Amino acid sequence: MTENFDDHPDAVDVRWWHDAVGYEVYIRSFADGDGDGIGDLHGLVERLDHIADLGATLVWVTPIYPSPMADFGYDVADYCGVNPIYGDLDVFDRLVAEAHDRGLKVVVDIVPNHTSDQHPWFVDARSGPDSDYRDYYIWRDPAPDGGPPNNWVSYFGGPAWTFDPASNQYYLHLFLPEQPDLDWANPAVADAFDDVLRFWLDRGIDGFRIDVAQAMGKDGQLRSNPQIGPWDDTAPRWQQWDAFDHRHDILQPSTLDIFRRWNKVVEPYDALLLGETYVFDAGDLARLLPGEGLHVGFWFELMHVGWSAQDVRNAIAAPLERVADRRSIGWALASHDEQRPPTRFAPAADDTQTGEGSRDGADLGRRRALALTTLLFGLPGLPVLYQGEELGLVDGEVSDERRADPVGADVTLSRDGCRTPMPWDRGPGHGFSTATDTWLPMGGRTDDDSAAAQRDDPTSSFSAYRALVKARRETPELLEPDLSWLDRDGETWPHVVAYERGSVVVAANIGSEPIELTGIDGTIVFSTAGRSGEFVDPTLEPADAVIVRR
Ligand code: GLC
Repeated sequence: MTENFDDHPDAVDVRWWHDAVGYEVYIRSFADGDGDGIGDLHGLVERLDHIADLGATLVWVTPIYPSPMADFGYDVADYCGVNPIYGDLDVFDRLVAEAHDRGLKVVVDIVPNHTSDQHPWFVDARSGPDSDYRDYYIWRDPAPDGGPPNNWVSYFGGPAWTFDPASNQYYLHLFLPEQPDLDWANPAVADAFDDVLRFWLDRGIDGFRIDVAQAMGKDGQLRSNPQIGPWDDTAPRWQQWDAFDHRHDILQPSTLDIFRRWNKVVEPYDALLLGETYVFDAGDLARLLPGEGLHVGFWFELMHVGWSAQDVRNAIAAPLERVADRRSIGWALASHDEQRPPTRFAPAADDTQTGEGSRDGADLGRRRALALTTLLFGLPGLPVLYQGEELGLVDGEVSDERRADPVGADVTLSRDGCRTPMPWDRGPGHGFSTATDTWLPMGGRTDDDSAAAQRDDPTSSFSAYRALVKARRETPELLEPDLSWLDRDGETWPHVVAYERGSVVVAANIGSEPIELTGIDGTIVFSTAGRSGEFVDPTLEPADAVIVRR
């Protein structure tokens, strides 16, 4: 990207999302209202109280559109409908009304980078080079050797081009071949999407989560990307992706024009544009957030950072240093695309660094996840939880025969583990569905995992997350843009991440020894260890975090 937004003035106006707490609902696995083993809108409406009780104020619902489900809804066949397995427009309207009654904003997932290959536009486009919708998509002749037109690769591995023998051309897809990329350089595509946005806005929704926001515009000449690493078509998908400098397929300035246009569309509705800005360079995130397009863009680095204070500090500091309006940073530790944090942070059985070999790994993983979440909830921006984080869930177990995710046949590549159904109640089936066979297995949940068991237990994960959400919402300092680091380089406390927000201190012990936070005293606003009152003995155990008002 070449545009420079460094001189953009900080936004000063206060918008509703500046004090919001988000909650992602992966619709297929949240709650099944009709007993077919797949989550749906009825089920979500019935369980809205859980989200309101947690204290979240914004619900993002993953795609609910008609779809052949090649990528479980991220392959859309009709942008203005509801898939019958999830319900219909009437239930959708009920969802919006019931959510609003509980003070919850509704954010729908929009998937504008690509459609399904079953979308009527693509069915027409594929019927021949002269079809009406051919130029809604990106078609090119083969390279002179008959191969793909350029070297772009799919995020899901392999070439980003599929050959269409009928027309002797290739079409572009940055994901599955069943997800052909739209051509956003075609003004008709942009016009069509204005109507899609208004269709949902007129139904009363409060915003859009924009799928793969970084990739919508493409280089006009479709130039090949410079190769910067060895190519191995058997390597995991992200290694294939990282073999290239993605200067031509993603992060094009034309993408910002789309968001400026959308900003004008949503403004009269006071609606939020929340981008899935899947970039790992904070400068790239800053360029995607110039202040006149997307309102918030996710920062995903925390989903990959290891258990290291220095790495956590750097991962938090990078976007704070680069993004002009810090309230436009979306913070998340988990999603339907990534391993659940308690699984990620569970020490290996032979972990000598932590000396935790004899401890229950999942329990330590949970405590580490909560400590990191505490750090995120103290930052300026929009924190977003993923369903089940509040229950401290580890990844569900999915056997090889039950794998459903189209990417990754084996456990290390598959996203199934974080997508198993929510455990609501005690007992067999855990209240997700009346069906015995659910689309993904329940995945080995216990009664203790369930929302029912945790709701009234003051020592549960749910109680801790609810208290953290409350602390966030009721501590005005945490919503301000200013932040100063305490011991940014870890000279005094190498294993502590700590920062000040006005008179409020947020600190976490990302190490394996207790640490005394000498000089930090005051009243505890939130403690992962359930402490309250004065922070008089300012010792933090490993994987503990506190919010203290000085
Ligand atoms: C986003 C979604 C992911 C999906 C992909 C393609 O990354 O979060 O689930 O597979 O886009 O639409």
